[in-house]
Amino acid sequence: MKILIAYATTEGQTRKIVRHVADRLTAKGHSVELLPAAEATELKVEGFDRAVLAGSVHIGRYQRELEVFAARHKAALDTIETLFLSVSLAAAGDDPEDRAGLEKVVDGFISKTGWSPKRVEHVAGAFRFTRYDFFRSWAMRWIAAQKGEEVDPHADKEYTDWKALDETLNDWLGG
Ligand SMILES: Cc1cc2nc3c(=O)[nH]c(=O)nc-3n(C[C@H](O)[C@H](O)[C@H](O)COP(=O)(O)O)c2cc1C
Repeated sequence: MKILIAYATTEGQTRKIVRHVADRLTAKGHSVELLPAAEATELKVEGFDRAVLAGSVHIGRYQRELEVFAARHKAALDTIETLFLSVSLAAAGDDPEDRAGLEKVVDGFISKTGWSPKRVEHVAGAFRFTRYDFFRSWAMRWIAAQKGEEVDPHADKEYTDWKALDETLNDWLGG
């Protein structure tokens, strides 16, 4: 199959995730085109059999360029199987309030873009202290403390469950 992956990232974890996805899909014999959403506005989605869109949550929303991409290509995306990977730290735990919050973020994305992904998966992201400026670092340490998480403010901490992601991909391809 010819599979498009369009993504947006702020600190780089979603890029790492979609590169992993691209490698897995390629290893299974699919032809993959991996593009940042910002560079994919002129792309013809019609030529693809399936599409994966991925973005990360920052203060309750995804990157603007992902919203623009989804809204622009909504009609073509509606005709193929799609998987939306929502990357966040809320997905790292199983707090029902956090989970409900993530559903609201997805609902906001759908109402803003008019595009409803056929399948949505929440993927745990990472603390990227090596990329944060002073204020972000301070805010993220506060968030970590609220959750009772021990973090080293000089190191990154990854929560992404790569095995679970592979299982999601296998299921998506099989379904
Ligand atoms: C300023 C800031 C705000 C964030 N807001 C949220 C949020 O509202 N909900 C959440 O679950 N995660 C939030 N996160 C965590 C990110 O979603 C997580 O770090 C993710 O791995 C970032 O992916 P990226 O590196 O691809 O941008 C936030 C992170 C930062 C730095």
